[in-house]
Amino acid sequence: MNVNGRHYRTIWTEERGGEETLCIIDQTALPHEFRTIELKTVDDVCRAIRDMHVRGAGLIGAAAAWGVWVAARTAPEGDFSGFMAESMGKMRATRPTASNLAWALERQKKALAGLGRKDAVAAAHAEAQAIADEDASFCRRIGEHGLAIIREIAARKGGKPVHILTHCNAGWLAFVDYGSALSPVYAAFDAGIPVHVWVDETRPRNQGASLTAWELGMHGVPHDLVADNAGGHLMQHGMVDMVITGTDRVTRRGDAANKIGTYLKALAAYDNTVPFYVALPSSTFDFALSDGVREIPIEERKADEVRVMSGLSEKGALERVLICPQKTPARNWAFDVTPARLITGLITERGVCEASEKGILSLYPEQA
Ligand code: MRU
Repeated sequence: MNVNGRHYRTIWTEERGGEETLCIIDQTALPHEFRTIELKTVDDVCRAIRDMHVRGAGLIGAAAAWGVWVAARTAPEGDFSGFMAESMGKMRATRPTASNLAWALERQKKALAGLGRKDAVAAAHAEAQAIADEDASFCRRIGEHGLAIIREIAARKGGKPVHILTHCNAGWLAFVDYGSALSPVYAAFDAGIPVHVWVDETRPRNQGASLTAWELGMHGVPHDLVADNAGGHLMQHGMVDMVITGTDRVTRRGDAANKIGTYLKALAAYDNTVPFYVALPSSTFDFALSDGVREIPIEERKADEVRVMSGLSEKGALERVLICPQKTPARNWAFDVTPARLITGLITERGVCEASEKGILSLYPEQA
């Protein structure tokens, strides 16, 4: 996607200081500053994922895949396989909910099986590039399939804007390019369909306010930021035509984990017969799990993410402020699970299906 007229992916390699270097957009600095950072060691990669300089299911997967290349080229002489196993274990432990992370590491493990150090560096590079390219192309296809749904709603509305509510950030910043939930929005906008997005702020880390609003603004898509709790009211008053969210893990029967608060939006959508779609590439399915509420591991992050907010002060300085009494304890679950029965459909790179085992297997028969 374009940032101030230049095309960026969220993760890439380029020649810096005479060697090929892994680079990312630092998402903790957005929307107030656009900066990139270099990841030179496995610890750099782990920190970037854990502290959310990179985040979002697809991008976490791509970062781990590139992290394997970083590990292979920095492994000490003499203990290549021990170092690789330890590095993959460290990366896997950074964030537990999105399935893309473990999926990408498994792909790399297979690609490197039986290779010595020199061949492993080349193979890890090729596999990381393939994973990144596939992520981008699958997300582009999600956009095409989602576009058909938006087009149909637009036709029914006779030229009036289609109002789409989204939660958190499942745009191009959450993947390598295009995004999942926002890819159909960009496709519709680019096709000249009038769209407008309600952007949930997404407490506690505010990915909606800081990332989705920034992305949509860069692309010129009309949008309004709303408080997290506004969605139900908007739906009751006919101000939402559809909801599209991303997801971090979908079970074989269609239960979807996504940013905390998504479940409440799905309940409100169900009560108001507003279609609720979940968009994902196949790397986000976890075919080993069935019951999402019981089986998907939910990350719990530091309490201070709830207690402290950061932003730009009136003087233009980035500041952190405590929003509760000094000693108030807090809990911070990062995700919740929306049961399949509340989901109208899953938008994947292979097409749109019902959120059920039957629907999913109709698109992915090889998983039967
Ligand atoms: O904690 P994050 O920012 O990594 O969470 C991921 C998300 O942005 C959302 O849950 C998103 O909708 C799914 S990731 C494509």
